[in-house]
Amino acid sequence: SARPELVVVGSGFFGLTVAERVASRLGRRVVVLERRGHIGGNAYSERDPDTGIEIHRYGAHLFHTSNERVWNYARRFTEFTGYRHRVFSRHAGGIYPLPVNLATICQFFGRAFTPDEARALIAEQAAEIHPAEVTNLEEKAISLVGRPLYEAFIRGYTKKQWQTDPTELPAAVIARLPVRFTFDDRYFDDTHEGLPVDGYTAWLERMADHPDIEIRLRTDFFAVRADLPAGVPTVFTGPIDRYFDHRAGELGWRTLDFEREVLPVGDFQGTPVMNYADEDVPFTRIHEFRHFHPEREHPTDRTVVVREFSRFARPGDEPYYPVNTPADRSRLERYRALAAEETRRRMVLFGGRLGTYQYLDMHMAIGSALSMVDNRLRPFFEDGTPLG
Ligand code: FDA
Repeated sequence: SARPELVVVGSGFFGLTVAERVASRLGRRVVVLERRGHIGGNAYSERDPDTGIEIHRYGAHLFHTSNERVWNYARRFTEFTGYRHRVFSRHAGGIYPLPVNLATICQFFGRAFTPDEARALIAEQAAEIHPAEVTNLEEKAISLVGRPLYEAFIRGYTKKQWQTDPTELPAAVIARLPVRFTFDDRYFDDTHEGLPVDGYTAWLERMADHPDIEIRLRTDFFAVRADLPAGVPTVFTGPIDRYFDHRAGELGWRTLDFEREVLPVGDFQGTPVMNYADEDVPFTRIHEFRHFHPEREHPTDRTVVVREFSRFARPGDEPYYPVNTPADRSRLERYRALAAEETRRRMVLFGGRLGTYQYLDMHMAIGSALSMVDNRLRPFFEDGTPLG
């Protein structure tokens, strides 16, 4: 095949957005290297073999954005359903809407509250701990929502997510906890929200479908880098610490384990996501994927559910969420300096979730890839501006 003008490592939303723009807007040939046997990174979805229901292999993905440019860009490749995300939480034999809103408060405290009454109640309960006295996550959460709601909906869930008691977690893990004093129970408050009508994989495949984009699956960059043509710029969206052989230490990640089960019922939980707030249940939540697409035909005699377990990642695990300890932050500073040097010396740009050690929603990954094309790659290809 013809000599590529850009190598992209990773075919997630970041890598595919870069590849698509550089091929179709800048008219350059792009090779995308992907370690896995499929494109799409963590947004990849597939048909469950037993039920035909679309499942998200690497955890549930809900698309939402207030960024008009990202929304318009996404709609070149897919239409979106009118799906609106809602989450419920099981606690002590009851089921409550999340994030905490007026319905949650009325149900939890067992009576009717006006918005002002509920606000006064939560303020009084939160006053137990003054913000200036906060030393850990537990105290921070109590100072925001009060002890009763913290103990019901946050303590057990957070402990399971982090395998760490909230009294031993830094307060900075949570900046705010949304409490709504209305009956609005929508999870996201972005302008645009929906699920891709034909599924995530169809959307991702349309992005990759361009004569100047060549995708090489099951190809690890580190196994083939010596054979890549010299002098071709690279956009690297794999783990930044791996790129530099962990020379400044390993960056910490949390990972998830997923347990899939097919059940002989038409509807298991009546909603896509049920959180399990209590400590005595080992998983954090159950997804029932049929409910993401109520507009589709699904079997009525069986359903597929996925239980989600959270833990610290070991080498070889999928990295999902940055742990972000102070030690991680200082390692990241060193990697950023190495990355800047690598951009200057070898024309390698780092991007995406793994390449920047940042949790990015899909719309953020797409938005930052569009910016990389605007600010770095277009000037490079069209004006000869050096990358670094
Ligand atoms: P992504 O991880 O998707 O892609 C990186 C790719 O690089 C992978 O395909 C990997 O195999 C490849 N790669 C790595 N090293 C390589 C190497 N050495 N050689 C070749 N290829 C290599 N967002 C949102 O908007 N709504 C949501 O509901 C969710 N939900 C969600 C749940 C979970 C559990 C996670 C972990 C993430 C989400 N997200 C999300 C975030 C979403 O997954 C994220 O925005 C995108 O994955 C970011 O895309 P990237 O391309 O940056 O990384």
